[in-house]
Amino acid sequence: MFDIHNHLLPGVDDGVKNFDESIKFLETFKKNGITTVFFTPHLNHPSVKTNVAKIKENYEKIKIHCEEFGIKSFLGSEIYLTPDVKEFIPIKDYFLLVELPTDIYPVYLLDKLFDLQLEGYEIILAHVERYKWLEGNGLLVDRLKHMNVYFQVNLEALNGSNYFLKRDLVDFIATDFHGEKRSSIDFSLFRKYNDIIEKGKSILKL
Ligand SMILES: [Fe+2]
Repeated sequence: MFDIHNHLLPGVDDGVKNFDESIKFLETFKKNGITTVFFTPHLNHPSVKTNVAKIKENYEKIKIHCEEFGIKSFLGSEIYLTPDVKEFIPIKDYFLLVELPTDIYPVYLLDKLFDLQLEGYEIILAHVERYKWLEGNGLLVDRLKHMNVYFQVNLEALNGSNYFLKRDLVDFIATDFHGEKRSSIDFSLFRKYNDIIEKGKSILKL
């Protein structure tokens, strides 16, 4: 199983603070069947400032520990989409995990996503359940799906009333783990929604 969205890379954003903590959590992930981890620290976030060079430096260090645990790791990023965003670290060279404002529809959304697609990127929208302007907006959901935009839902939002789950619109499930300050992870959900995991594997060619 794999986790495509988390803040386990230590000391770079509002996620896990140091290497010791990160190593401890990675062990827990491995024990619970997660064998592939995509580290996705924030980039271009309005309130969490991050640095690409520092992210790459810390990834090179944590990667060695991942190898010791038998965890396959990749570096990516969670990009807060703004009209002028330029800096990102794609997952597997061409997948962009994209975060959006939660309360207000970003008017530049479709244009910007289309531009990124023209540049050769595939888009994964992070935690789609958080965007109040998207849930229930069938026309916009259809439009995004026709553009081949993938939807990721966080584990804690996986329940029978989830708008996206009910409509079979979920391509990825992920922890979005930020360390102990947020709720603990129910790893059993990865097994429960194994069909979504399989879908994600085929998209990412894992
Ligand atoms: Fe995140």
